[in-house]
Parts: sequence; C-alpha cells; structure tokens
Amino acid sequence: MLRDMVAETVLKPADLIQPIFMIDGEATIESAPLMPGVNRMTIDKAVEYVKSCQSAGLCAVALFPAEVKDKKCAEGREAVNPENLICRAIEAIKKAVPEIKIIGDVALDPYTDHGHDGLIDRNGYMLNDDTIDILVKQALVLARAGCDIVAPSDMTDGRVGKIRAELEKAGFQNTLILSYAVKYASALYGPFRGAVGSDGALRGDKKTYQMDFRNIKEAVTEAAADIAEGADMIMVKPGSPYSDVIYRLSQKFETPVLAYQVSGEYAGLKLAADAGAFDFKSAMLESLIGLKRAGARAIFTYAALEIAEYLQNSGRA
Ligand code: PBG
Repeated sequence: MLRDMVAETVLKPADLIQPIFMIDGEATIESAPLMPGVNRMTIDKAVEYVKSCQSAGLCAVALFPAEVKDKKCAEGREAVNPENLICRAIEAIKKAVPEIKIIGDVALDPYTDHGHDGLIDRNGYMLNDDTIDILVKQALVLARAGCDIVAPSDMTDGRVGKIRAELEKAGFQNTLILSYAVKYASALYGPFRGAVGSDGALRGDKKTYQMDFRNIKEAVTEAAADIAEGADMIMVKPGSPYSDVIYRLSQKFETPVLAYQVSGEYAGLKLAADAGAFDFKSAMLESLIGLKRAGARAIFTYAALEIAEYLQNSGRA
C-alpha cells in the first residue's frame, strides 16, 4: 500500500481506449486470426460489448471496419458512403450508449483494392492532395453519423487543417481531431491487417508515407505541423518501441500525446503468455504503465476492456 501511496505513475480505466473490429451481418462474433482474445463483431454484438466497456470505466472506443471485400475499389469510395458499416455502427452505439466517445478512423485502406491509405499513382506513390479531398468527405460522413473524434491515420500532409476547416463549416465545432501525426512504417501492424482482411490486398509497402523508424527529429516536425493545423490530440504508433518518441513529444508540446499499442505488440505478449512465457496481465500492465510513464495521456490497446475490468476488480480503479 505504501508503494501505491508513492507510485509515480497510475493507470486507470479512463486511460485505455478499446479498438473494435466491425463486420457486417447479425449476431456474429468471430476471433481475429493471430490475436487470441480479440474478436470481430457485428453491430448488435458491438453495442453489447461497448456497454461492458462503459461499465468498466472506459471513455472511448475506436471502430475499424473488417472484411469489406466486395466493396473495395481503387478510390475507396465506400469510405464516403453515409450508410457504410462504420456509420451504421456509430449510430447504433451512440443510441444505446450515448456517453461513450467514438473514435472513427479516417483513412482509405479498408476500402481500397490496393490496400493503401489513399489514392496512388501508377508507381504506387500516394497522391497527397487528391487523397485529402476524399478524407475530408470521410471525416464529414463520420461526424454526421455521430462520431465524436475523427482520427486521420493515413499520414498525408496537410489533411488536419482541411478537415478542421470543413468540420467547422459544417457545424461540427465540437468534433475533435486525433491526428496520427507520427506513424512509423512498422512490421508490427501485421496481425491488424489480418484482422481487418487487408493483408492480402496490400500492394507494395507504406514506406512512402509512413515514417522511417530510424528518425525522431522528423517526428517532432510531423507533430508540430499537425498541432499547428488544429489537431486536438496526436498519436504515436506503434507504442512501446517508440517510448522515446512519446517522451520527446509529451515534453515538447502541450497537446495530449496518445500511444497506440498495436496489434503486433498485443500478439507478441498474448502468444508468448499463452505459450507459458509469463503471465499475460502482468506483462500487459507493465507495458501499458511504461507507455504512461513515457508520457502517453491515453493508450489504444486491444486489452483495454480486460485490463480495465482487472483494475476495477482489484480495487485499483
Ligand atoms: C491504417 C491502420 C493500420 C493500423 C490502424 N490503422 C495499419 C496500417 O498502416 O496498415 C494498425 C493498427 C495495429 O496494428 O494495431 N490506416
């Protein structure tokens, strides 16, 4: 108890954000390959799941579409369909659990047949400005559905300012922007691409727009640009291997810095724990507290609900 009294870092359920993989259909929950304990679910099941998140003290969930196979095209047009899976999910969840904040991903990768986050030219390079025009529409469609926080995760340059301006014009002054300002081209996204079913689709890699993991000064430049354009929060992704980046940005900027403990980090801990290497909850807590100690104000983690319930039940929340 004395250790609790003087502990420098405290992890609470409100620090954790649960990503949820959405699928079309009804009454279906299926496990995500390579991510034991993580499920893809239909809207009705997600509504129940979000109720549990709310009871466990989480403040927000992040929705990602999975398996939109038949709706993919080169321009990712399904992203701007106001009746797409994510918009319908937002409406249903908001109606059932109005207090929970919903974070909607702004990027085209679930919807493009080439698997990239935006439009690409013949050589596979992202068409920055043409992509932004679509991302702005996607952000508006999400906001109209009731999304509280739009989260551009695509890494084009200049999209935060344009999204902010168009949200204001459309009357969504209170819709926040969480910018994935610092997203590294990481091998650790592998299980996510399997979970959303975009792994087979990706042509080439994302190195022309995601960051080189040898760089940290570049992270400061990216974060400063997005903050200047009006980002309300910025994300560093992945999490633990980039604790130095989280530390640097949280020391330098007043804007909240969030961390994304990505699918590969979750799978690494989970699969090793399942093989008997260590206790999953202990290792997960250590990893999450490490991210908070580095300066993350909140953390996206696939273990959010499980850890929040554990914190509550152990009287630590
Ligand atoms: C893409 C996106 C990715 C993740 C979330 N949004 C991966 C990618 O760049 O392909 C990965 C998250 C994870 O690995 O948990 N917009």
